[in-house]
Amino acid sequence: MSRAHTTPTAVPEREQWSGQVGFILSAIGSAVGLGNIWRFPGVAYESGGGAFLIPYLVALITAGIPILFLDYAIGHRFRGSAPLALRRLGGKLGESLGWFQVSIAAVIGLYYTAVLAWSSSYFVFSWDLRWGDDPTGFFVGDYLEVAGEPFTLDFVPSVMIPLAIMWIVTLGILAAGVVKGVQRANVIIIPLLVVAFLALVIRALFLPGAVEGVSEFFTPDFAALADPSVWIAAYSQIFFSLSVAFGIMITYASYRKRRSNMTGAGLVVAFGNSSFELLAGIAVFSTLGFFAFQQGVTVGDLEGLTGVGLAFMTFPAIVGQMPGGEWVGALFFGALTLAGLTSLISVLEVVISAVRDKFALTRKQAVFGIGGVIAVLSLVLFGSTSGLTALDTIDNWANNIGIVASAIAMSIIVLWVKRKGGELSRHLSAVSTFKVGPTWLLFTSVLAPALLSWMLIAKIIELLTEGYEGYPTWYLGVAGWGAVAIMVAAALILPQLRWRHDPDKFEVWPTREQLHVKGAKR
Ligand code: ALA
Repeated sequence: MSRAHTTPTAVPEREQWSGQVGFILSAIGSAVGLGNIWRFPGVAYESGGGAFLIPYLVALITAGIPILFLDYAIGHRFRGSAPLALRRLGGKLGESLGWFQVSIAAVIGLYYTAVLAWSSSYFVFSWDLRWGDDPTGFFVGDYLEVAGEPFTLDFVPSVMIPLAIMWIVTLGILAAGVVKGVQRANVIIIPLLVVAFLALVIRALFLPGAVEGVSEFFTPDFAALADPSVWIAAYSQIFFSLSVAFGIMITYASYRKRRSNMTGAGLVVAFGNSSFELLAGIAVFSTLGFFAFQQGVTVGDLEGLTGVGLAFMTFPAIVGQMPGGEWVGALFFGALTLAGLTSLISVLEVVISAVRDKFALTRKQAVFGIGGVIAVLSLVLFGSTSGLTALDTIDNWANNIGIVASAIAMSIIVLWVKRKGGELSRHLSAVSTFKVGPTWLLFTSVLAPALLSWMLIAKIIELLTEGYEGYPTWYLGVAGWGAVAIMVAAALILPQLRWRHDPDKFEVWPTREQLHVKGAKR
């Protein structure tokens, strides 16, 4: 019998997924998001086209999957949000890392919602191709009303309204709980997303010029492999895309039942996510091939093939020129919105779960209190005429500095300082079908942190010496380095606050040794 309802000071029982399928769909929902559809095709194209697949696969195998397993092991063995699980694993130092991860998630949540708001608007605009003949002018001028200055408080209603709706929907789903909210949303949305996306890929592949577009995507530029920034792009793409090293998978794993096939589920999620990413690349480049064909040029001659420009300027321009473009636009932006929504839910659940564990809040208090504060901040930062610049800058720093630093710190603290590698590897192998051992430990404790540290240093030097996108230095100091400073401050300050319930009183799953279970499987 749990202590949950016996005394007023008892810790609450942890919520649980209803089973393996609910968890896998939710984890795929978290992984497949803006990173797959909005970021990957452009990053891959910019970083050597087909040659990017080499660093991408290396990053997946040497760091993505191993660190995904590490997240799962921590969340399931120590059964808590990132600060709680890491506190139980490694005391105050562990808790600091947990809050660092929570603040990365909070920062990502701020701008992720904004891209979803744009995408949902564009889903509506697709039906009458509202951007007309000038999609770039429409996006920057008519829709976002981008200002010349990097920071303003001139709010744009056409962005504020969908942004507010997106926040209401997301917080509503989170308030309903792990099974009735998060899991149910994923179980409904993921099949819909798969159908919408496959329809989009098939339509795109039948466009004239599609084959040339896809072959452009897969044509390797091997010289790019010598460029460190290509490797950095591959590793940060994998982390963002797989939702690792910023608390999500620790949190989601903490809601799993005691005997859960963690590594088996992890492989399904990782390969499902990468397949989605490759399909997104194929769909986007087929469409670009069509566009180039229309203009009598090659894909290499086109501009605006990355990030925001690709999705909100180039893509609308293309669908405007194809028969049935309204449908293709609606499928693309519909898929982007659905994929992003299930990821956003997971990003915010990191924060909700953490504040609930630390401050003994009910789910509704956490969602509407803390989630509400993040929502207001998001509306202020991204609902104004300067939202685009803020988004671009914060996204770059959160991913390339925040997440990479967090992965390195996790490896050092968990595996070197606290020496939990053996315990976590035994735990994973005891509950899972795919066993992990010395190779996993070698990747997570030596290879990944060594490569990541080298990349992080190179990136910091690049940002300090070359700046970013020509934005003013003071602005990068405030928005980019400032975002990192907030993460560090959270890591230093929050562990000093008192836990409402002693972290050691939260229930964890008994270990195999405690249960005297031999060869426990699932
Ligand atoms: N994993 C999520 C994405 O790819 C955050 O967008």
